[in-house]
Amino acid sequence: MAKTRAATVEIANDEAPTISNQEEEILTGLRQANKWISPKYFYDQRGSELFDQITELPEYYPTRTELGIMRACGKEIGELVGPEASVIEFGAGSNVKIRLLLDALERCAVYVPVDISGEYLAYMAEALAADYPNLEVLPVLADFTQAFELPNPKIMPRKNLVFFPGSTIGNFAPPEALALLRVMHYEAKPGGALLIGVDLKKDRRILEAAYNDSQGVTAEFNLNVLQRLNDELKADFDIDQFSHRAIYNEAIGAIEMHLVSKRPQTVTLGGEKIHFAAGEYITTEYSYKYALEDFDALAHLAGFTRQQVWTDAEQLFSVQLFQVPDTPQT
Ligand code: AVI
Repeated sequence: MAKTRAATVEIANDEAPTISNQEEEILTGLRQANKWISPKYFYDQRGSELFDQITELPEYYPTRTELGIMRACGKEIGELVGPEASVIEFGAGSNVKIRLLLDALERCAVYVPVDISGEYLAYMAEALAADYPNLEVLPVLADFTQAFELPNPKIMPRKNLVFFPGSTIGNFAPPEALALLRVMHYEAKPGGALLIGVDLKKDRRILEAAYNDSQGVTAEFNLNVLQRLNDELKADFDIDQFSHRAIYNEAIGAIEMHLVSKRPQTVTLGGEKIHFAAGEYITTEYSYKYALEDFDALAHLAGFTRQQVWTDAEQLFSVQLFQVPDTPQT
């Protein structure tokens, strides 16, 4: 495993992730009859700022609700996980949530944030190491959808706790979500655990309002992906000629985010012409919502046993704790 040094923490580089062939990946999606761009392209600097704003919007209930659950249930989480666990966070996401978890755990042995963005990872790891001087922070630069090598901590943890808040699992279609849960199961190891935030099925009016906010921040977040393609891949999208749409597709249990072409138009990207009919759209994101029993069944397929579920009073969101059985299942 290669290692690079940030200011004070060392970053293990499981496999140097290259976003090679971004252009080819995007063109492949845009050549389809149902045009598609992966949501991973949302998160450039501006997209990340807009996402932070989304989490504070009155209509966007997930972040606020998950934080409320974690605050209310921290003590119980700490007791169930037990002392000297190692926390492996998939995605170095929210400063606030990891702090709530670390404060809830008894003598956390080591914190391992795993992210594909080296700059962001270094920034988050440094900030955390400064606030928790007794905590060993061992960031890993890797694509967490594939199994990665865990670094060797100074103190042997009693168990591995994989942490995946924010209902980011909802941005993976069920087969990919299952594959990702299997990676988490592998990294948690026998006797380990998973603490995961999962958004729940609910009235479509609440869901659609959360992704069509009245201030238009989600619209800007969605349209920003076209700006990014213009800036980084020299595409020529006329951004004013696309509009944001988010609808709840009840048949699959997911919010779909679209960029809808306002008129017939042709866009050039990588020397290739892409035609849009009026009303034709690019799907930019799925955000799957789960019934509690459906997520349990999915996690079970990945080898997990559910230990505890916490929800808010309105059952908008859930935080779920799963165990990996001590002896590997045959
Ligand atoms: C990151 N992810 C869990 C968010 C979601 O709710 O699916 C992304 C998002 N898209 C629009 N608003 C928020």
